[in-house]
Amino acid sequence: MEREERSLAPGASEETAVGRRVFAEGHGSVLTDLDGNQYIDFAAGALTQSLGHCHPEVVSALTEQASKLWNVHDSATPRRAELCDLLDRLLPEYLNTYTFLSTGAEVVEAALRVIQAVAPPGRNRIGALRHGFHGKTMGSRMLVHWDIGNQAFAGNSVLGYSPYCYRCPLELEYPSCGVRCASLVRRHISDKPNVSALVFEPVLGAAGVIVPPPGYWEQINDACRDNGVLLVADEVLTGGGRTGTFLASEALGIEPDLVTLSKGMANGFPFGVLAGRESILRSPESATAGSSASTYASNPLGIAAAAATLEVVERENLTERVRTLGAVLEEGLRALHSRYDVLGEVRGLGLLYGLEFVRDPASREPAPDIARAVYTHALDMGLRVSLGGHILRLAPPFTMDRTLIEEGLAILDRSMARAVSDAPALPDRPVTAMGDAAR
Ligand SMILES: Cc1ncc(COP(=O)(O)O)c(C=O)c1O
Repeated sequence: MEREERSLAPGASEETAVGRRVFAEGHGSVLTDLDGNQYIDFAAGALTQSLGHCHPEVVSALTEQASKLWNVHDSATPRRAELCDLLDRLLPEYLNTYTFLSTGAEVVEAALRVIQAVAPPGRNRIGALRHGFHGKTMGSRMLVHWDIGNQAFAGNSVLGYSPYCYRCPLELEYPSCGVRCASLVRRHISDKPNVSALVFEPVLGAAGVIVPPPGYWEQINDACRDNGVLLVADEVLTGGGRTGTFLASEALGIEPDLVTLSKGMANGFPFGVLAGRESILRSPESATAGSSASTYASNPLGIAAAAATLEVVERENLTERVRTLGAVLEEGLRALHSRYDVLGEVRGLGLLYGLEFVRDPASREPAPDIARAVYTHALDMGLRVSLGGHILRLAPPFTMDRTLIEEGLAILDRSMARAVSDAPALPDRPVTAMGDAAR
């Protein structure tokens, strides 16, 4: 690390900067560092390895492809049609047209191009949600309005309230609030005929797994439908089964017109999919020559990794396993919540959880020092989670054994106990209130 630090530009994720580990290998749900220490990986790489590290079927698909063909621009290759068939079966039937790219932000950019291409005249603004995260490229950053270490770039976006009940900006309580945040977004959409699309995370992942209350999405979904506003679900993090359905949108009453997918698609290999309605992605406005091409679009290695990953997800009915294991995780986390005052809120669904650490339950003052201490102690005890500001995120592989989930929960328990007993001695390094979630 000392050697590379002389050469690398700073700006690593908070979890990498704080964790300071050199990971050498990963197999299944367990990582091994250069010193031979092992870690249960509750962060599945970068919330990517749904099948665990180096899943044998993905390794063999990649190895086989690596000895055959790496790049022929976006030409047809044998497994591309197979991947289309898999997506046809896994995604809602009407989302039947795809573009294959490499990263989450690249897919969001592709969606933004489509939105602009099909927007009716005069509709030049794009809706987004507070606390949403969509990537770090210029277009995607236009939709991101909290400090992620880059300067803001609002562009032509307009913002709506996210369903962050624990820190309600309207200072209301669910359910007596009547989901006012959603009515305000709704009003925004119907009063502003200049909005062409709403780009949103169904569950806001980077900001700490913010799960909307019932009624939020139903209202907004209908408002968009009634006003001709495209629903563009950014499921880069939630897609692929992570929340217990292939798309989080399916469980939350959203019928998106376009969906962006990436992290869960190819088990950690760079790959992304823009999926959408045929009427949009085949429209003459959006389907101009070259519009879905790029150097690594439809890359054969990515296609092979994605096809192998999704084959396993489908064959082993892993979305159901996510729900079953998710219930175990949730029960353990609820028990921790009832025992530790500093654990202000536990939120999530499926195998995606956010733990929000606070100074005390009454003030709800964010406690990034405590989150960081829990993260560090957990690493020292053999558990890796994802750290961002005062929030820890958990996203274990879908294939993790129940015993490892339980072991991980026990380590979290011990880490919290140690963090609480050490709390006054911890240094208070400045971080932003929203944190700097590792992406
Ligand atoms: C919802 C969402 N969209 C987009 C992105 C950007 O993806 P990438 O980092 O692959 O560019 C992320 C990354 O975490 C994400 O969570």
